[in-house]
Amino acid sequence: MNRVLNFAPGPSPLPLEVLLEVQKELPDWNGTGISVLEMSHRSKDFMGIYYETVKNLRELYGISDEYEVLFVQGGGHMEFAMVPLNFNFYGTGNYLVNGVWSQKAFKEAVKLGSAAEAARVVNRVPRQDEIAMSEEAGYLYYCSNETVNGIQYHYVPQSEAILVSDMSSDFLSKPVDISKYGLIYAGAQKNFGPAGLTVVIVKKDLLGNCSPTTPSMLDYLTYANSESMYNTPPTFAIYVSCLVSRWLLDQGGVQEMQRRSVVKSSMLYDVIDGSAGFYTNKVEKDSRSLMNVVFNLADESLNDEFLAKARERNIVNIKGHRIVGGMRASLYNAVTIEATEKLAEFMKDFKASH
Ligand SMILES: Cc1ncc(COP(=O)(O)O)c(C=O)c1O
Repeated sequence: MNRVLNFAPGPSPLPLEVLLEVQKELPDWNGTGISVLEMSHRSKDFMGIYYETVKNLRELYGISDEYEVLFVQGGGHMEFAMVPLNFNFYGTGNYLVNGVWSQKAFKEAVKLGSAAEAARVVNRVPRQDEIAMSEEAGYLYYCSNETVNGIQYHYVPQSEAILVSDMSSDFLSKPVDISKYGLIYAGAQKNFGPAGLTVVIVKKDLLGNCSPTTPSMLDYLTYANSESMYNTPPTFAIYVSCLVSRWLLDQGGVQEMQRRSVVKSSMLYDVIDGSAGFYTNKVEKDSRSLMNVVFNLADESLNDEFLAKARERNIVNIKGHRIVGGMRASLYNAVTIEATEKLAEFMKDFKASH
């Protein structure tokens, strides 16, 4: 087995222990003689997996009974639509726009009703005193970690309105006080599991106010009323995420993930900052992401050589998003400190040889 050092932005690495467990029990899950892939979603066995996943998520984040934990499909892009469809009732959606994903979410909300920009900034998060809520604001929406731009909130924005956050790319990477939020959501495919599953954590008393023409599959209440099984859920993605949730608990939970994220990201930012301009990062320091470290080579003509030399050391998927170019190393929960050390070492060596 030749596992490479994978810094992919999503789908991204899963813990090796989890992959091996999936491999081991794939043809015969828990002595049942069938694979999870072949199980009815309504069977007792699968329901057990589903209940455990929800329970583990509640434990990891300390989620109270006032909240539903829902499993949806359609990824972040469907949430861009579901949030306004479910929350327009409360008033105007106020959006903090500071990167690719908050911009996309804002555009979708404009299509679906009343939405306003409460702040727009680049290369950083807006400060609390820059947030200008519109009249009749219903909810305040922000993307806690801009995956493409490498920008992360290190504070929780506040307003009188319902707080909503896209936490797709820093899900379960640090403690979050869920009680501050009306809703958070995250595509699983970065920090939690395979693509195909989106986790939505929503305050129960906010549900049930969609317009009557809203399709059932776009109403969170449909999921809440059916244990997320109104239709066939992405069973395999839920199963793998269940194993990841166990792994997270075993490793020490979100506190430990936060500790590792600080160690990993500091290693790379130290190399960038200590490179005398060989590597650059445009993001303001207090908005830098602990999950996605973006950087450019001052001499962009070296980009291809940089990627090829990285590949020689088994380091893959560090090319930046096509919209912004440059490089990006994603340091999600399953990326080890040792792998990050090897990347940091490679970056230093590459600089030294030029
Ligand atoms: C923060 C964030 N939100 C939303 C999305 C869109 O997710 P999906 O491709 O699952 O629709 C992404 C994708 O990378 C993301 O990083």
